[in-house]
Amino acid sequence: MKVLVTGAAGFIGSHLSEMLATRGDKVIGVDNFNNYYDPAKKLNNANNLESHHDVMVIKADIRDRERMMALFEEHQFDAVAHIAAMAGVRNSVANPALYMDVDLVGTQHLMDAAREFGVGNFVFASTSSIYGDTLQIPFVETDNAVEPPQPYAAAKRASELLGYTYNKLFKLNFTAVRFFTVYGPRGRPDMMPYLLAESIYHGKEIPLYEGDFKRDWTFVEDTVKGVTLALDKPLGYEIINLGKGHPEPLLEFIAEMEGIAGKKATFISKPKLEADMYVTYANIEKARRLLGFDPQVSMKEGVRRFWDWYVAEQEQLTPA
Ligand SMILES: NC(=O)c1ccc[n+]([C@@H]2O[C@H](COP(=O)([O-])OP(=O)(O)OC[C@H]3O[C@@H](n4cnc5c(N)ncnc54)[C@H](O)[C@@H]3O)[C@@H](O)[C@H]2O)c1
Repeated sequence: MKVLVTGAAGFIGSHLSEMLATRGDKVIGVDNFNNYYDPAKKLNNANNLESHHDVMVIKADIRDRERMMALFEEHQFDAVAHIAAMAGVRNSVANPALYMDVDLVGTQHLMDAAREFGVGNFVFASTSSIYGDTLQIPFVETDNAVEPPQPYAAAKRASELLGYTYNKLFKLNFTAVRFFTVYGPRGRPDMMPYLLAESIYHGKEIPLYEGDFKRDWTFVEDTVKGVTLALDKPLGYEIINLGKGHPEPLLEFIAEMEGIAGKKATFISKPKLEADMYVTYANIEKARRLLGFDPQVSMKEGVRRFWDWYVAEQEQLTPA
């Protein structure tokens, strides 16, 4: 199968590209290598994909509609995994227009190109953030999710709804997969696991927001396995949670990493931010039923694998 992976140089996109290429798919990646975090990390991911996995990563912006159309015409993809986005819940509060542009309008360009060139399946990376402070816990896909707490979630939810319209009007197969706090090697430097590792390893002080937070931590390998299952199975129009289905307190995640490292992190206490949710918790019955999704990696194992990767990365950056 020939697959377009957008955001291929990023955290989840690079893992997905690797998994697809390893099983024999022809993967073309697209990324604009923006500087939301250090582009050198993205370049490194793309170089690794090109040299070890026969994946071509093209520098292009999904907001460039003509470029996207030309790319689809040239490559005639069988499926699209649309993973690129401006991620980062808090940053979206400061930059709503950018998030609507990339996460909604950029998504529409890709959906238009997909229908124009007869792509068989469009899988869209959505997020648990769209559930906001819902009272339906665990989060379930039948929740209307009409109170997105930040522009990021609003853009993602709007894209899901546009997917419905494109399926009804143009018969585009569209599956939105909602990710839940994904972590693992090559993890985003603005997310808690990376900040925590940085604090433990370098003694850097990091914010700890007040509140009893719980997250449905999902190891990246499980998440991208779920995306490949969705790519393999056009379903018309569906929204599917891809979480672990087992939320654990932030404080336990912290304790786990500190235990493995044998060292404590340093925190500065901050009041809870309006844009932050107390809990994320996926009901994954639908993913199990429709896709055979079955996440395997425990928090204990996942944190160890993340920490080992982080230490190796740091040693490479500053060799002893
Ligand atoms: N990491 C998580 O826990 C999590 C949770 C829920 C949803 N998601 C979603 O998963 C996807 C991947 O997230 P990630 O954590 O890997 O983030 P990431 O920032 O590492 O990856 C996103 C990639 O998209 C690229 N990109 C951004 N704007 C672009 C544009 N205009 N054109 C082309 N490329 C562009 C970035 O350069 C980046 O490499 C995103 O859609 C995000 O919203 C992530």
